[in-house]
Amino acid sequence: PRPILLTRHGESLHNVRGRVGGDTVLSENGELYAKKLANFIEKRLKSEKTATIWTSTLQRTILTATPIVGFPKIQWRALDEINSGVCDGMTYEEIKKIMPEEYESRKKDKLRYRYPRGESYLDVIQRLEPVIIELERQRAPVVVISHQAVLRALYSYFADRPLREVPDMEMPLHTIIEIQMGVTGVEEKRYKLMD
Ligand code: G3H
Repeated sequence: PRPILLTRHGESLHNVRGRVGGDTVLSENGELYAKKLANFIEKRLKSEKTATIWTSTLQRTILTATPIVGFPKIQWRALDEINSGVCDGMTYEEIKKIMPEEYESRKKDKLRYRYPRGESYLDVIQRLEPVIIELERQRAPVVVISHQAVLRALYSYFADRPLREVPDMEMPLHTIIEIQMGVTGVEEKRYKLMD
């Protein structure tokens, strides 16, 4: 059985400030998670010589993977966070104040709402298709280090959750979700490495 390990990047500077999108580096907390994750992966995948580490093209996932040594790393643009278009870098409070109609439309239908010049959750789900095909084709373990919205979509696919649950699914920082595809269905374990 070949596990897929899903995790968000370590806490980023934008996470600390409550800002969406961007391409910031990790906070101190986030860097600590990167070390703990590397430790975990080293033990968990010790005997799995052919495992690979997949990240997005954004700094916060690449930096989260940095302390992991001994496994090939692959960057996927399709694993980048949902593109929040004109709202990139703003806090939800700022969006509500400056673009109240956008804020309301997103609240009404978060799955279909597309940020102006950005993406919707449905767009993200669609662009993940090649990643999913490649993941299903793998025979060795894969560690996917990505982002909240993207992991909500990926996890939902493997756990067979309905589309409507995707945008509000809980996807905490600093937690690894391990998925195993077995004959009896999908098995899942969670490891919370820190707060
Ligand atoms: O920066 C983007 C967030 O990770 C996505 O969260 O879709 O719940 O606003 P949200």
